[in-house]
Amino acid sequence: MNSELLVSDTAHFRVDYEINPYMHTEVQPRPEAAAAEHQAIVAAHLAAGRKVEYLPSAPDCPDMVFTANAALVRGDRAVLGCPPPERRAEIPHFSEWLTGRGIEVVEAPYSFSGQGDALAFGPLLLVGHGQRTDERMLPVLARELRQEVVPLRTVSARWYDLDLAVGVISDGTLAYCPEALDAHSRDTLRGLGADLIEVSAEEAGLFALNLVSDGTTVTMTRGVPRLAGELRDRGLEVVELATTELAKGGGGIRCTALTLDNPA
Ligand code: ARG
Repeated sequence: MNSELLVSDTAHFRVDYEINPYMHTEVQPRPEAAAAEHQAIVAAHLAAGRKVEYLPSAPDCPDMVFTANAALVRGDRAVLGCPPPERRAEIPHFSEWLTGRGIEVVEAPYSFSGQGDALAFGPLLLVGHGQRTDERMLPVLARELRQEVVPLRTVSARWYDLDLAVGVISDGTLAYCPEALDAHSRDTLRGLGADLIEVSAEEAGLFALNLVSDGTTVTMTRGVPRLAGELRDRGLEVVELATTELAKGGGGIRCTALTLDNPA
């Protein structure tokens, strides 16, 4: 899992609007620091043996570094994201790239945050809704991707995408922030029979769960020692990286990598 990722770059990364509670137009990323941060993340993917594909960012797309929201890819099919209007210009770039790679793309008929709200977990697709993804996308994803969908409702804009509230560690292990999900969704998650790691709202709010794991190496943000420790205790290789500039856009490591190898 996560052995092939699509990334972009920070060349045009800015906070031009506020579409999540972490964004403040008066707090802009420092361009050089942001570029260094992103390069270190890409280097960590490569060092972990992952293949990285690259799509250059477009000048009118200040959030394009967050490739995860562009689509959810499974096998040779993808459902494109349908983000807030501020980010709509990104989608044709990704659509063209995916099509060029031989992936059949389907447009989302309702709001959909792409992989930001749709995490592959073994044969299941964990789908966040209630914020950036319309509940009506649940049957659409199940049908278009022929995959069993597990709906998880996130409770506030602080968890505007599921990838801030849940992190997939391996085929059998999930990390999650209980407070970020409603009671029914917590029960659903607990009923999956997975090994569950609980993460505090404090660490989750620092993008602790916004990680990329291939089941062996976990690439995650620096500054969340409790989750990092729990993962090491489970025998995982943990690489902690700075994400202070990406955080100004309300994103982290998971947001900057669209997975291309979710098995069909
Ligand atoms: N500024 C971006 C937005 O609000 C951040 C997206 C982060 N992506 C994610 N998968 N959580 O849309």
